[in-house]
Amino acid sequence: MKNNKPVSVAIDGPGGAGKSTIARILAKRLGYIYVDTGALYRAVGYAALTAGLDPRNAEAVCALLPSLCVELTYLEGEQRVLVNKEDVSDRIRTPEVSMAASAVSAIPEVRRFLFALQQDMAVRHSVIMDGRDIGTVVLPQAQVKIFLTASAEERARRRYEELIGKGMSVTFDEVLRDMEERDKNDSERATAPLKAADDAVLVRTDGDTLEESVERIYRIVEEALA
Ligand code: DC
Repeated sequence: MKNNKPVSVAIDGPGGAGKSTIARILAKRLGYIYVDTGALYRAVGYAALTAGLDPRNAEAVCALLPSLCVELTYLEGEQRVLVNKEDVSDRIRTPEVSMAASAVSAIPEVRRFLFALQQDMAVRHSVIMDGRDIGTVVLPQAQVKIFLTASAEERARRRYEELIGKGMSVTFDEVLRDMEERDKNDSERATAPLKAADDAVLVRTDGDTLEESVERIYRIVEEALA
């Protein structure tokens, strides 16, 4: 790190592309903080569901925001997300919360609500931040931008194995259908849709092992910061 100025590495891409796993490993290797911004949208989706709201109802979700406190904290190096001081990190990983997160993320006020929190992390620390609009909207000045993707089938297979590994009862077809629906929501929304920044390096992870993807991206970061 030159001049002690914090470094920002932005990793965007659709769900299941491997962003969070790869970013977490790279952050440890580089000594940066890993910021999983999807967890913030999940936290808002979770809060909407807990309040008995339809997460697609923008008016109702916006009415919730003034009394909602979403925070990031780190426990033994792992990001935890708090909603009104309660740690919801594990509860926001269900398929229901995934769909709710995608729905609330299309609401411009929700994106504004979470914007400062994300930028603030990058001002104070060197970060690897993953999401959908990090290179385009949140950290357009990031020194390294990567757009990570893979086919929908490959991403659904990884997500299916992850959910089964956590003991959830889902079928591959359900996971694939949810994945395709979320891709569509996330790419077609009017505000900050999922898309690669013009200056992002495109990385497809189909057929790569995790180690191969990590190495490829580590080399891209190293070259960009050299
Ligand atoms: O990365 P994830 O699957 O945990 O994200 C959950 C949802 O949040 C995803 O469907 C889209 C939304 N999201 C977003 O709109 N912008 C981000 N920077 C991160 C996530």
